[in-house]
Amino acid sequence: MDAAAHAYAPYSKFYVGAALLFDDGSVYTGCNVENASYGLTSCAERNALFRAISERGAAPRIQAIAVVNRNGAAGPPCGACRQVMSEFVTADAVVSFPGAEGPETRSFAELFPWSFALERQP
Ligand code: THU
Repeated sequence: MDAAAHAYAPYSKFYVGAALLFDDGSVYTGCNVENASYGLTSCAERNALFRAISERGAAPRIQAIAVVNRNGAAGPPCGACRQVMSEFVTADAVVSFPGAEGPETRSFAELFPWSFALERQP
């Protein structure tokens, strides 16, 4: 929620924060950063991940993902973020997010089965 305080969201006014817990115990946070083009907006989850990789590489795996918003709305991670995260999660990673009836926690595998990954192609 602290990360969401930095969100740049003048267009949607939807202020999102994400925290990623890695299997080395580190935590990286991010917020959404919008753009006048709309399409170039980058979500909180991806910004947190890219920040982590930029600082120390991609070896640590994501153990848990938490996403919140300051709007009090339901807001699971979007499909694009699920695809991007899928490349860096542990097999038993979990995701917490605001659901329609309150906080929800699900396994990443449940939220995003059958991810696209090059090594799985024939
Ligand atoms: N957003 C995120 O940051 N994460 C999500 O998982 C869903 C959507 C942002 C993108 C945009 O700035 C705003 O929320 C409204 O879609």
